[in-house]
Amino acid sequence: MSVNILGIESSCDDTAASIVRDGMLLSNVIAGQEVHRKYGGVVPELASRAHQQNIVPVVDRALKEAGMGAGDLSAVAFTRGPGLLGSLLVGTSFAKGFAQALNIPLVEVNHLHAHVLVHFLKHQGEGSASPAFPFLSLLVSGGHTQLLVVNDYDEMETIGKTIDDAAGEAFDKCARVMGLPYPGGSMVDLHAAEGNPDAYSFSKPRVAGLDYSFSGLKTSFLYFIRDRMKEDEGFIKNNRDDLCASIQRTIVDILTDKLEMASVQTGIMEIALAGGVSANSGLRRKIRELADNNGWKVYIPQVQLATDNAAMIAITGYYKYLSGEFAALDISPLARLPV
Ligand code: KG4
Ligand code: ZN
Repeated sequence: MSVNILGIESSCDDTAASIVRDGMLLSNVIAGQEVHRKYGGVVPELASRAHQQNIVPVVDRALKEAGMGAGDLSAVAFTRGPGLLGSLLVGTSFAKGFAQALNIPLVEVNHLHAHVLVHFLKHQGEGSASPAFPFLSLLVSGGHTQLLVVNDYDEMETIGKTIDDAAGEAFDKCARVMGLPYPGGSMVDLHAAEGNPDAYSFSKPRVAGLDYSFSGLKTSFLYFIRDRMKEDEGFIKNNRDDLCASIQRTIVDILTDKLEMASVQTGIMEIALAGGVSANSGLRRKIRELADNNGWKVYIPQVQLATDNAAMIAITGYYKYLSGEFAALDISPLARLPV
C-alpha cells in the first residue's frame, strides 16, 4: 500500500500544504501573505491571522490537486519549529485536529531539516537525483545561514553558522537601504542581472573557521550609500543595478568561500543548496562554476522548493513515518529548535 503524507508549513509568512506519495511530489500549494509588504517585514500578529484564514483552503487544494481525499492520507506532518510561535501554532493545531479526526499518525518536522532534505523529493516524469550521504548542505534563508554535514535523514551536524545576521537578512536589509520592497532578496537578484558586479567593492568580514558574519557588510553598505547620496541625491536611482550586482556578488563570495573551505576540510564533494537564498541566480551560477572547477556534484533546488514550502515538510515527514517516529497529540511548537 502506498504511503500518502500531507505536509503543513506555517513557520513564517507562507501557509503551505503538500501531498507526497511514496516520496513522489503530487501537489505543492503555497499562499503567500501580501499584508506584510507595506510594513517592510513580517508582522507576527498579522501572519498568524492570515495563516488562520488560509490553512483550510490551502490543504483542501493540495488534496484536490493530488487527486485525493482526506481518507487516503497515511499521516500528517507539520513544522514544529523554528519560526514565529503564533504562526507555528496555527499549523500545529490544524495538523493535530486533522490527524486525530482521521485517526492517523502525526509527525513533527524540524523546518531546517526539511530545507536540507528537499533534494529527496521525487518528481513525476523525471529521474531522481538525490545527494549521497554524507553530503554538505549550505542552508541559507531569511533566518538561517549554516553549513551542515548531513550523515543521514535525521543526523546533521552544524560545522559553520552565522554569528549575527543571516544571508537572507543581508539581502533584505541592503535592499531596504536602496528603497526596494520587502522581501528584497529576489528584487536585488532581478536588478543584479542588469548590473556590473565589479562596479563597487565591499570588504568581506574576517571570521575564523567556517562561521559567517553579515552585520558589518550591511552597515558598510549603508554608510557607503549615505556618503554617496550626500554628493548625488540620485545616486541610488542611477546606479541601482550596479549596486545590486555588487552587493549580490559580495554576499555570494562570502557564502561560497566558506563552502569551499568546508569541502576541503571534510573531503566531501557532494554539495547541496537549501533555503530561500538558494533561489539567488548569482549563487546558483557560482555553485555550478565551482562544481566544474572542483569536481563537485551539486544539488540546487527548484526556486519554488528553495523558499518556504510544504513539500519539504512532507518528504521529511515521509522518512520519519517510515522509521515510525510519531508525535504525541500534546506536542507544542517551538520558536527555537536547533538542527
Ligand atoms: O527559506 P525562506 O523562504 O524563509 C525562511 O525560512 O527564512 O527564505 C526567505 C529569504 C528572504 O530573506 C528572501 O529575501 C530570500 O530568502 N530570497 C532571496 C531570493 N529569493 C528569496 N535572496 C536572494 N535572491 C533571491 N532570488
Ligand atoms: Zn525556511
